[in-house]
Amino acid sequence: MLTPNLTINAAGHLCIGGADTVALAKTHGTPLYVMDENMIRENCRGFERVISEEYGGRGLICFASKALSCKELYRIVDSEGLGADVVSGGELYTALKAGMPAEKIVMHGNSKPNAELQMAVTHGVGRIVCDNLPELDRLNRIAEASGKTVNIMLRIKPGIDAHTHDFVKTGQIDSKFGFALETGEALAAVKAASLYPNLNLVGLHCHIGSQILETEPFAEAARVMLGLMNDIRTEIGVTLPELNLGGGPGIRYTEEDDPKPFSEIVRAILNAVKETCAALSFPEPFVLFEPGRSIVGGAGLTLYTVMARKQIPDIRTYVLVDGGMCDNPRYALYHSRYEAVIANKAGEPRSERVTIGGKCCESGDLVGEDMPLQPAAEDDILAVLATGAYNYSMASNYNRNPRAELVMVRDGAARTVVKRETYEDIVRNDI
Ligand code: LLP
Repeated sequence: MLTPNLTINAAGHLCIGGADTVALAKTHGTPLYVMDENMIRENCRGFERVISEEYGGRGLICFASKALSCKELYRIVDSEGLGADVVSGGELYTALKAGMPAEKIVMHGNSKPNAELQMAVTHGVGRIVCDNLPELDRLNRIAEASGKTVNIMLRIKPGIDAHTHDFVKTGQIDSKFGFALETGEALAAVKAASLYPNLNLVGLHCHIGSQILETEPFAEAARVMLGLMNDIRTEIGVTLPELNLGGGPGIRYTEEDDPKPFSEIVRAILNAVKETCAALSFPEPFVLFEPGRSIVGGAGLTLYTVMARKQIPDIRTYVLVDGGMCDNPRYALYHSRYEAVIANKAGEPRSERVTIGGKCCESGDLVGEDMPLQPAAEDDILAVLATGAYNYSMASNYNRNPRAELVMVRDGAARTVVKRETYEDIVRNDI
């Protein structure tokens, strides 16, 4: 199986975290997101362990909540000692409502409206990552009017070209995020930021991309960022105490994927940090990481009911399900690949190759093409694996489909953590 938390029980049903997925589909309905709490907690601990073993615990892991934002997730990661990375007022609101301490929150965004900056300042968010010069100016005015000084970091494009999908690359010069290093823009931004009386520049941030399978681009980013911090010390006389290296470790979506474990990636980054600091005689900074996918991605799956099977002779077989791009737009957006299993036939061989189609009124609404699957029939339960990241968080009400329920499984027992939307929810804001 794709991840160790997936098993097959005596009835031949797929289980996650000890819970029978066929029973979950019957009790909660479909489409249904299912998350394995123990695996999420283990992943949080895995990150913490490396920071503590390799770096004396001088760091903070902020769960990138864009991967999955709901109150229970913030409670879980907070209880494991993690903070949160938020990128909108909505994520910030959810985190605060769940009791996440504001000082453990990092606020992102390349285009933050004043209302979101105000919200971050009012609640005392620990660090605001600033993206551009007008934002510095606006934030300083907001902080001044609120009688506060806020800790900021600057988002830097370190010029690292990580091998991932074009849409999720962010560290190269042609990106809408942050200040470019090569052009001198970054150094100028540090100078500008230092002049604002209500902004306290504590460090730099970079994020080179997502679903990155190798260690080297991350280690290189750390070296480049420390080089810049050293230039800042030399040219401006400021020694920045913090370095935030973003998220990005990839996960196993298909049997062929072979990502480096995140523990290896973080270890390689921390080694690069220690070596570079020693070479430059630069004090080792407090480090922050913002993993999203690697904490929740492999811990989740989505259950659907098969509604029909449509065989087009000599062309392909469609298996049609009761969800699709409204609960998982990733195939439509990136042609992302997944493994799927008929949950009630999980012990049988996946002897067919099929296209899984969603229910939305759109030809591109597919879960995947050419996917190995057990022979599927009407009313079977289809499980799509490794959907814990960027599925629920990217869901929409397209075609006015209500958003699906999300259940958390722990040691075989399941509880609802996000209720299924109702039709009444759908029309709530219609006048
Ligand atoms: N920090 C920053 C500043 C980010 O922009 C991101 C992701 C992360 C952390 C978390 O990255 P992760 O550890 O999850 O790779 N919707 C796309 C992914 C977009 C990622 C955007 N930024 C997908 O479904 O693949």
